[in-house]
Amino acid sequence: MNSTEWKEKLSSIKDGFSNSAIKSNAGNIDALETEYLGRKGLLMLLLRDLKDFSLEEKKILGPLGNTLKAEITSKLAELKNKFGAGSASSLKNDFDLTLPAFPYSKGSLHPITQTINKMTEVFLKLGFSVAEGPFLENEYYNFEALNIPEDHSSRDMHDTFYSAIKDSKNKDWLLRTHTSPVQIRTMEKQEPPLRIISPGRVFRRDAIDASHSFVFYQIEGFYVDKNVSMADLKWTLETFIKELFGENVKLRFRPSYFPFVEPGAEVDMSCVFCNDKKGKCPVCKGTGWIEVLGAGTIHPKVLKSCGYDSDKWSGFAFGAGVERFAMLLFGIKDMRVLYENDLRILKQL
Ligand code: DAH
Repeated sequence: MNSTEWKEKLSSIKDGFSNSAIKSNAGNIDALETEYLGRKGLLMLLLRDLKDFSLEEKKILGPLGNTLKAEITSKLAELKNKFGAGSASSLKNDFDLTLPAFPYSKGSLHPITQTINKMTEVFLKLGFSVAEGPFLENEYYNFEALNIPEDHSSRDMHDTFYSAIKDSKNKDWLLRTHTSPVQIRTMEKQEPPLRIISPGRVFRRDAIDASHSFVFYQIEGFYVDKNVSMADLKWTLETFIKELFGENVKLRFRPSYFPFVEPGAEVDMSCVFCNDKKGKCPVCKGTGWIEVLGAGTIHPKVLKSCGYDSDKWSGFAFGAGVERFAMLLFGIKDMRVLYENDLRILKQL
């Protein structure tokens, strides 16, 4: 190659680069740089050819080559600037190496959702329908209509999150502490007979530990009709628990106090982990029984506060903690597992 040919080549490289630079975008700046200035880039190879020229020729051609190199370098810097903080980093932005690789995992329902679905399914088969209520309640629905008047000591059992807001009747707003207010809201709107369940979140000012959380799930159930008795309650709950845990499970009703039912009971099921052998089972603590529900026949005052004639209608109600059921169904010992969303654990459930 003589010096004229070298100059022609230099000028065609210059034209080629100018054309490509006009058409460039964020995605090909790096490639453009490699094509012209890379170790085997067009300009770099041409500059390398200078070694075959005489000293005089080198003195003329060298500066021409270096000028073009400087021009290309500055043009590339300008383009990188234009397309963002450098093409390499803008590429990095739309290519996230931390994303999971193909084939993508499909995910699954959270164990709490699965548990609510299982519990709900059984009650749907028994003719119950699902109702929902608001998380933000007022004192009337959360307490008063459920026969828990102001200053009643049983309010102490509910460590409540009160808001600073009052409603138009001067009642305080609060995050509901249980799903029982759905009883009142439903009975106010509908005439008996009623068979309702209501799963949902409830809130209490509780510290988090293996069996407590400030937000958790309950399922409320209630049935209002003529001549509903504790026997109906017992049959319904036995059918429910046996559907979930098998035919051999036994239920035990212990008298207990809930202001909105009379009589009231706490319901235990026989321990499915040690089969009543009363050993050192950590779940039932060796008692052979696990408390799963609160229940009773609905207090006449509650029926009356919803406008029902309590001489004509009677009902039963029950409330269960969903996490307790999830722990029993999935064999989880610490409730926090359900909230920490550690995929390594949730994937196993
Ligand atoms: N609301 C009660 C609680 O959160 C649970 C409960 C007990 C609900 C007895 C009921 C019931 O419907 O009859 O502690």
